[in-house]
Amino acid sequence: MTDPASGQIDHVLDETRLFPPPAEFTAKAVISSEEQYQELYNRARDDRDGFWKEQALEHLHWFKPFDQVCQFEAPHAEWFVGGETNASYNCVDRNIDLGRGDKPAIIWEGEPGDTRTLTYNELRTEVCKCAEALLELGVEKGDVVSIYMPMTPELAIAMLACARIGAIHSVIFAGFSAESIADRNQDASAKLIITSDGLYRRGKVLPLKKTVDEALEKSPSIQTCLVLRRVGNDVPMTEGRDVWWHDVVDKQPGELPAVPLDSETTLFILYTSGSTGKPKGIRHTTAGYNLWANRTFQWVFDHRDDDVYWCTADCGWITGHSYIVYGPMSAGATCLMFEGAPNYPAENRFWELVEKYKVTIMYTAPTAIRAFIKWGDEHVDKHDLSSLRLLGSVGEGINPEAWMWYHEKIGGEKCPIVDTWWQTETGGIMMSPLPGITATKPGSCTKPLPGVIPVILDETGHSVDAEHGGMLCIDPPWPGMLRGVWGDEERFVETYWATVKGKYLTGDNARCDADGYYWIMGRIDDVINVSGHRLSTIEVESALVSHEAVAEAAVVGRPDDIKGQAIAAFVTIKDREPTEELRQELRMHVRKQIGALAQPDEIRFAAGVPKTRSGKIMRRLLRDIAAGRESAGDTSTLEDFSVLASLRAED
Ligand code: WTA
Repeated sequence: MTDPASGQIDHVLDETRLFPPPAEFTAKAVISSEEQYQELYNRARDDRDGFWKEQALEHLHWFKPFDQVCQFEAPHAEWFVGGETNASYNCVDRNIDLGRGDKPAIIWEGEPGDTRTLTYNELRTEVCKCAEALLELGVEKGDVVSIYMPMTPELAIAMLACARIGAIHSVIFAGFSAESIADRNQDASAKLIITSDGLYRRGKVLPLKKTVDEALEKSPSIQTCLVLRRVGNDVPMTEGRDVWWHDVVDKQPGELPAVPLDSETTLFILYTSGSTGKPKGIRHTTAGYNLWANRTFQWVFDHRDDDVYWCTADCGWITGHSYIVYGPMSAGATCLMFEGAPNYPAENRFWELVEKYKVTIMYTAPTAIRAFIKWGDEHVDKHDLSSLRLLGSVGEGINPEAWMWYHEKIGGEKCPIVDTWWQTETGGIMMSPLPGITATKPGSCTKPLPGVIPVILDETGHSVDAEHGGMLCIDPPWPGMLRGVWGDEERFVETYWATVKGKYLTGDNARCDADGYYWIMGRIDDVINVSGHRLSTIEVESALVSHEAVAEAAVVGRPDDIKGQAIAAFVTIKDREPTEELRQELRMHVRKQIGALAQPDEIRFAAGVPKTRSGKIMRRLLRDIAAGRESAGDTSTLEDFSVLASLRAED
């Protein structure tokens, strides 16, 4: 049943190398023995409530203690019932209470090289000012605030300001199109949007506010647009709707206490792609999510007070939410935050940053690692990376070649690598090596964290031979699990809980080897992973079909050396010639509909999209064709796959 779209899986299956943690790392690690892990793991499983009660009391601030640890009636979980806390308090004020007020919370570097450092005291003032401004602008508890911003400290500040007053943030990655922003604003009935005049991208200015203006034409619920000045380009401001950050935020006193919020108050929604065309708003709540981000951060990254931690993700994705903001900040970490691209002004930018800020823990994505390999070792060799002690990977499986390069070239063979498997829905890391104890195997996310009970099942929900592999499900509940899909209970139940009763369906295939190590084998659905970004093939198909020249479209992922998967589209057209110009037009059309990240890498004009007798697109056949595993024979301008399709239908 596993049908990996990527050939890399084959290498993974042969992988037998084992890398034990360096003894000097283990000696100082937070979790430093297998027994300690076993004890935590067994306790979380066998005495769930007792375990999480202790964790919650120790690692979060409570305005009012909870009465009950967990109430679970599948698929609905409530954690820390009756308690009151605030994620903004946990991430900011609590650090000040614990004496970390003068410790840098955010060390930021902008793309042009400008820098800022905010201590936890300073961060508190900024978060309070922003929260006060939001109140002044009419935002109330329970309102949704969209955030479409560059990776500036104000992005994290805006998130924490929402959390402070019980408003729900919905961060939209700044690469999405006006259409995508409007869809998300509408779906969430967002009341206010925070953006900036523009953002820097490889020396150019992208006009964010202009994109937002376009989106706001189709976002009736938005009353106010708060605009940060970042690049200084000219932007028209709409009277009565648009306000500058420096006019309304800077003048505030900066003292607003965090509002005590019920544990299950929605903290944020974050849209992600599923197997249908419309992205869904994954809903996370305050206490359980915050605790999960906090515990997993400390366990997996072995965080110590003197670390300089750098997660290279954007806050527009879940990795930025959990491992730039809520996990590390609630643990009082010093986080490096970077606005720019890894190859601007040159391909050594990341390594320059590591050297300059003496980064000790770095968390990045396999797609970036593969790009660095391509750019050449000379960009790395120029820099002293000896400050690094731990490396992390997230977003997709890391192929052993990239793993080895990361280990040797970046880690100098002395840094453990934590390959972390998780999802937007899980809130935080679910499976990962623990750097002080786990002997790693390149390509395996190794073992579940305490609180995580994975199960491997077949399509009918029965156990299968785990070594052979099957659908990866999780035995609920855990504190960080999604609480719902915004405004769509049916989709929540249908997507995650209907396939196997009582189990959370991850949508990934996995196998578990004889040592109990897990290996993720790709998706079971129509989700593709392009440069670590989740996209639904149906979403891209819908965008293509919305172009007047397109009669039908089928989209599949094909293996790509850098991106992991690239987007291949098979398109049948009407009333137009299959020209290069049309190809370009279709690419731009998808970009406009969804965003640059969804732009097809390859568009093939086809005489017809091959379908099964029941009308389903034969994606497996198309995947094989896109990957070059099967030749269509006919390479004329309009490729005809009908013969192949009928042959396949017979086998
Ligand atoms: C994939 C990102 C293999 C997987 C945190 C998952 C991975 C989807 C890994 C979630 C990994 C993420 N090894 N596959 N270490 N990490 N994935 O919601 O298919 O953007 O279901 O969350 O990415 O993507 P999402």
